[in-house]
Amino acid sequence: MARIAVIGSVNLDIVAQAPKLPAPGETVTGAELHHFPGGKGANQALAARRLGADVSLYACVGDDATADEALALLRAGDVNLEHCGVVSGVTTGTALIAVAPDGENHIVVAPGANRELTAERIPALHADAVICQLEVPVDTIARVAQTFEGLFCVNLAPARHIDVSILQRADLVVVNETEADWYGGSLAACHGMVATTRGAGRATLERDGELLAEAQPPAVDAVDATGAGDTFTAALVVALAEGQPPRRALEFACAAGAAATLKMGAQPSLPMRDDLELD
Ligand code: RIB
Repeated sequence: MARIAVIGSVNLDIVAQAPKLPAPGETVTGAELHHFPGGKGANQALAARRLGADVSLYACVGDDATADEALALLRAGDVNLEHCGVVSGVTTGTALIAVAPDGENHIVVAPGANRELTAERIPALHADAVICQLEVPVDTIARVAQTFEGLFCVNLAPARHIDVSILQRADLVVVNETEADWYGGSLAACHGMVATTRGAGRATLERDGELLAEAQPPAVDAVDATGAGDTFTAALVVALAEGQPPRRALEFACAAGAAATLKMGAQPSLPMRDDLELD
């Protein structure tokens, strides 16, 4: 079983399932309201656990009732939360999400306690792989990049400025199309693998601009795309940490990401390994 450490965010997702996404300045009514556990770090941790890894999450929540709601599925899913700190006087991270009938979404995050995940809170990591994203302080990610010696993956979401040393160190960088455009030529600093997702389109895995593998996600009737990218990232790392070759690992990640769109909510839709139909 691969041992994976996830350094990242925990949020409570407050979701409006709406008849359409609002344009700037527009009010859309008629939505259904839901609360789901979320946060890119938490989603990736639970996805990796459900796909068969032994997972520890390094994160921060506030000392509020929201934290219990946000951590509920991680606890039930047997993710190790020993290093999930509770910070007094701040709120647990919260995401406001609108989801349209075709599964597309708009997300606004209030990071709250996620801002408190400093490098001092991360002990020496004993894992085969580390997964980071960018909803926690980038200095923390930079420190982990310097000190961790195993498979180091960074999911560059949400897109923001980071130290080039993170890109230079990463064995695997994961971006969606929008993030790939945002980072542009700076991704040339990566000498590890770069995985790019394109929604329902083909995902690619490249190294130094050379194509290593390409895979088409299975066609699905998406209900909610929230968490699909997190699931793709977790699945790719689980497969690579298990020693699967790049093409098979990418196909596994595409199948997992597509499966994560089939139900409302980030964490309720994360697939179990047995749910994925692969040859
Ligand atoms: O990637 C999806 C996640 O982004 C949501 O769960 C939300 O919390 C935001 O962090």
